[in-house]
This record gives sequence, C-alpha cells and structure tokens, in this order.
Amino acid sequence: MKSSLQSIADCFKRPWYIFFLAASVMTATTVAGQSKLIPVTTSANALVLQVDSAKDVSIIYFGSKLADTAEYRLLSGSYRQTEDYTNVLNSAYTSSGSRNLMEPAISVEHSDGNHSLDLRYVSHAIRPTDANVTEYIVVLKDPVYDFEVELHYKTYYLQDVIEQWSVVRHHEKGNVVLYKYASANLYLKSTAFYLNQYHGDWAKEMQPEESRITHGIKTLDSKLGTRADLFQPPVFMVSLGKPATEEEGTVLFGALEYSGNFRTDLELDFQDNLRIISGMNNYASPYTLEADHDFTTPGFLYVLSRQGKGHASRQLHAWARQYKLLDGNGQRLTLLNNWEATYFDFNETKLKELLKDTRKLGVDLFLLDDGWFANKYPRNGDRSGLGDWQVNKTKLPNGISTLVKEAEKNKVKFGIWVEPEMVSPKSELYETHPEWIVKQPGRPEHYFRHQLVLDLANPAVQDFVFGVIDTLFTANPGLAYIKWDCNAVIYNAYSSYLKSQGQFYIKYVEGLYNVLARIRKKYPEVPMMLCSGGGGRVDYAALQFFTEYWPSDNTDPLERIFMQWEYSYFYPAIASANHVTDWGKQPIKYRVDVAMMGKLGFDIVVKNLPPADLGFCQQAIRDYNSVKDLVWAGDQYRLSQPRESAVASMLYVSADKAAAVVFSYLVNNRYAQGSLLPIRMQGLDPKAKYRITELSIYPGTQSPIDPSKEYSGEFLMTIGFNPAISTSRTSVVLKVDKLR
Ligand code: GLA
Repeated sequence: MKSSLQSIADCFKRPWYIFFLAASVMTATTVAGQSKLIPVTTSANALVLQVDSAKDVSIIYFGSKLADTAEYRLLSGSYRQTEDYTNVLNSAYTSSGSRNLMEPAISVEHSDGNHSLDLRYVSHAIRPTDANVTEYIVVLKDPVYDFEVELHYKTYYLQDVIEQWSVVRHHEKGNVVLYKYASANLYLKSTAFYLNQYHGDWAKEMQPEESRITHGIKTLDSKLGTRADLFQPPVFMVSLGKPATEEEGTVLFGALEYSGNFRTDLELDFQDNLRIISGMNNYASPYTLEADHDFTTPGFLYVLSRQGKGHASRQLHAWARQYKLLDGNGQRLTLLNNWEATYFDFNETKLKELLKDTRKLGVDLFLLDDGWFANKYPRNGDRSGLGDWQVNKTKLPNGISTLVKEAEKNKVKFGIWVEPEMVSPKSELYETHPEWIVKQPGRPEHYFRHQLVLDLANPAVQDFVFGVIDTLFTANPGLAYIKWDCNAVIYNAYSSYLKSQGQFYIKYVEGLYNVLARIRKKYPEVPMMLCSGGGGRVDYAALQFFTEYWPSDNTDPLERIFMQWEYSYFYPAIASANHVTDWGKQPIKYRVDVAMMGKLGFDIVVKNLPPADLGFCQQAIRDYNSVKDLVWAGDQYRLSQPRESAVASMLYVSADKAAAVVFSYLVNNRYAQGSLLPIRMQGLDPKAKYRITELSIYPGTQSPIDPSKEYSGEFLMTIGFNPAISTSRTSVVLKVDKLR
C-alpha cells in the first residue's frame, strides 16, 4: 500500500498516510456541533463541501485554494448576506419538494406518488486513480424514502479541471419517476456575474454574447434531440466580478459532456449568489427508474481560472488532449474532400482523377463525401437514398474497394462519408423498416433536410448502424477515415420500441454511444470526423469517440477566423477540421493560412487552380507539415482579438518554448488598416534569443521579415513583433525559433 501511495503523495508533497485515509470510505463524524469539510481540490482551486450537524451537504466555497485547510472553517463568519430560510440555498445537490425554494437539481415522484425529496449525507470516499486524477464520491440518502444519490467529482489536479456527475438509484417497492436529474449543482459568490454564452444556426455556429446575469433564471438549453447544438452549444463562460479578458480576471468555463438535449440553469438567487445547475434536459423526459437500477448522468465539466480566459482554455486543451479527445496527442491526416468540388455529381473516372489530385496537392488522404450509395433511390441529391448503404452501381460499378486500391497506387489514403443515423423517405430502408423510424403514429411526417431520424433507442437499429460502419471496414480493410454526419433534428419524438416514451431522448443518446463504443472497440485507431451539418454536435462526450470535429459548413475564411476563435476556447486546435474551399472572396493564401490554425484540409477543384496557386498550396502544405506539431500539441495564446482589432493573431508554442508559430490575419478591410503596432507574443522564454522567419509565402512575393535578426523572448513579449499586416498583405504565418 505504502509504495504506490508514497509516489502519489510525493507528487503532491503530502504525507502518504493522507492518501491511505483518503482512499477509504469515511462516514459522518460530526463532533458536537462541528461541521465536516470535504475540500475537493486541484492545483489552484478548492470546491469546499460542508456537512453540517443536520447532514445537509452544501458548497461553502469555490475559488482559489487556501494553504491552511482549517481556515475554510472561518468562511461562515465572513459573509453577512440575508437569511437563507431553508438551509439548502447552497446545497451541493438541491432536492425538491421539502425545504428547498429555488431551482432544484433533482425532482422525483416516489413509487407511492409522493413528490418530496430530502437528501442527507451518508458517507464519502476519496479515490486517487494516479498522481493527477482523484475521484471524490459523496453519498446522499433520503431519511424517509429508500432513495439515494451519489455525487461524483473527478478532479484533474494539474489542469484544474473537474468533471462532475451523479448516480441516482432507489430500492422502493415500485418505479420512481425522475422529473429532473442534473449532473451538477454549483454555487458561486461574487459581487457580479457575467455570462458569455453562444448561439447559432447552420453556417453561423459559435456566435458569442456576453451579458450581466440578473436575478432569476437564465437557461441555456437544447430540445433538438439530435444535432442538438444547432442553435446553442453546451459550453459557456461565467466571469466573476467583471468580464474576464484573455489574460485577466476570474472565469469559470463550463460544458456539459452530452450529445443530446441539455439544460443549464444559471440562477442568481435572492442573496445575490449564483447557482449553476447543469445536466440532460428534462424536457418531455420524465424518466421511469426501476428499483435497484442506476441512473447515471453525463459529466459536467468545469475549469476555474484566475488568469483570464486564455489560461482556462489552455488548461482545458491540456486536459482534452490527455484525457478525452480520441488520440488527443496523436497525429492527424491532411486531406482533400470532394463535397464542394463535385457535390453529388461524380463517378469512378472523376474520383480517380481526384485521387491523382490528392497526391499532386501533397495531402495524406482523399475523403469521398455524400452521394456514393443507394440504388433503387440513388443518392443523387439530398432527397433520397439515406439508409441504403450499398454502393451505387451506376456511379461506382467497381465498388469502393477499387477506389481504395487506386488511392494506394497514388500513395494516399482513402476515407468515406456516412450519415448512418438517418433515413430518407425515398429509400428502401424506409419501405422495409418503418418501425425503425422516429415519428408519431397518426401524425404527418415532418422533415429536416428532407430526412428522418432512425430510432437508436431500439437495439435492432443500433445493430444496423454499427453494421453500416463494420461492413465498410470488412469489405475495405484499407479504409483510413470516416466522416460521420448527422444532418437532421428530431421532430415528432416517438419510439415504437420503447414502452416509456419519457425515456426516448435519453435512450437515443445512450444508443448512439453504445454504437460508437462498439465501433471503437473493434476499430480503436481509425480517425473519425464528427460532423453535424457543420458544428451541430460538438461536445466532449462525442469527442471521446472522434479525433476531430467539423466546426461549420461555412468555410469563408473571414467567418472561420471568428468561429474557430470561439471554438478554440473550449476545444484544442488538433480537433478542429479546417478546410480550404471557394467560399468567400479572399485569395488562396488567406484561405490556406486560416485553415492552418487547426487540422488542414482542402475542398477545392485542384485542376482549376492557376499554376501559381497550385504551387503555393503545395509549398504551404509542406510548411504546414513542418509546424503542425506546434499547432496540434502546443500551448495556444490568443494575441490580438478579431472582435477588438483589425488584426487577429494566434500563437502556438511548444512546451519547451523552443519554437512557436504565429498566424495573423487582417479582419477589417477599411482604409489603411493593418498591424500598426507590434503584436505582443506570449509563452516564450524571456531569456532566450529567437529568430523569426515567414512561412506560406505566395510565389513571386517578397517577405519584409528579416530572418537574420535576433530578438529576445523578453523583447517579443514586452514590445512585440510586427507581422506587417496590411490591406495588401492580409495574412502572415511566422515561425519563431529559439537559437541553440
Ligand atoms: C453536411 C456536411 C457537409 C457535407 C454534406 C453532405 O451538410 O456538413 O460537409 O458532408 O452534409 O450532404
């Protein structure tokens, strides 16, 4: 016991026996009138739970960690706010129907029809997994009903990230109906709170909005079922005191790890404290829970930073790459996609040409998009064929395997698009399996992009969806990439398989995760892009199965600067699939430079490129390959904000500060706009000397950057460096190298 705990303890500079105690289950031992404290800690922060003599568990503090744990006991005397009346205003998991008067985290109907719940402390355990990860589990139980909830707090010490979820179970004599079942219930104190939230639509993802939170409840939610983030993603920021900036201020980033309906309530209560309750949306979902069964909520993820949004995002990136995103520290494939180059209009001859173009361009993989399948109702447009995953014999008489072999001949890899959760009303699947389709009996069908959703709550449908992918791989073992799309929301929610319709939305997502888990068990490595008509399904539960996501169908580079910027607060650059297309009016260099800020891909007609543009792209891809590890694994710093300045500038630096790459773009085309002042870099070694060279140079143009000049890190971070952005030099990529 001692040796493994010793190594964990050494890491935290604490005696090993603390971990011995921590690893065992503890029960409430409240010494006469004295409360018990459970500090849930990370390297910088503490979320302090208190168990009082009545066994109510509350959050008495969430903020900067104090050196002396005993001082948390002084907290209660430090606040002189108005009376609580309930003693559960700051509950760690607010139950409804007893003393509570505010928004609950959980509400239920017991087997006898009673709606009251009161959760009191039973025990807690602290279980370190390794030196960085610890799980705190607090068990709560109703004194009257045989009903319990486990609160789970999983801490990632160095990254300051906490994942929180709940497990609900009961041993009552009949079923219990859960009416609300949040993952987490947080409680914050400050003089003021500012919410930075996001909204969007197709081609308009991740539009930020910041406002001061007023009294009452602000709800961020989705009721779309699939493609759940189309109008609002499950990520947000809350600044404390005043709006945080990139480098300053206290800010909490929150995100529900869930790909279906979500709901986050932010309630500023009558004492001026902020209660945040986040979880699956209970909309149309009273959930029947049988006795002795566990109901586990998704994780709610949060990170608190006192050094602004930049630090919070770097912590989240580090966490995501190490613990969540599939193959987060691995490699990615650059690619050529044919969606915008051909849409549905292609055949084997055309694709063979595109495979040659893939090679010529110098990317790793060719991605065949929508339109390759269905025979009775061929997929020649978006009104037919979904569900019939047989290769279309007219377009591709020799099947996919011929194309995979042709790709091999061209020394590139081959990937393919699927949308296996969906069905077109004009399809054989619709004719043969009407019972697999989500629709209301007796009501007219209503379509989103002319299609319907398959009922993934049904295990037979799960097998079918798994089979779509499995059959592709079995027939084509050389297949190297999947783009998984999801273009429709759920209308007329109803499953002919489920007995209890209140479970539908939840069982759908459970079914989706079952399928993805099966795919990952059999094909753990293959890269998959998470697409949902753009960024309609970007969340951390999905990303544990995917290597990358498609931020938006809007690939106008000017728009993408803004969108990729906002996504980048929550998701690391390695996960962002950025393609160069013909959207927008910007020159090819600008389009390529913007796409480089993540995982580079192309969706253009290579043979239509003028020779200089082609030559530029080929060199830019070589340049990208020389810096991609910095973009994918480096620490990301936002140097100049596109919403505040005419120039957007982003830097990625290696952990050892030996190399960085800086992307700068003109985002305002008015007269004489550009980088009038130098842009201050960050994350470099102040004492080291650096040289700066320009990459991604368009043929025939001269770089004004002198690569022989030396700058100290101190200079570059204090004075800055001017990339010389102007209306005639609208994007610049700089490599910063430490001199050895
Ligand atoms: C969605 C995706 C696009 C493309 C089309 C194909 O809109 O976002 O990238 O794959 O579907 O129909």
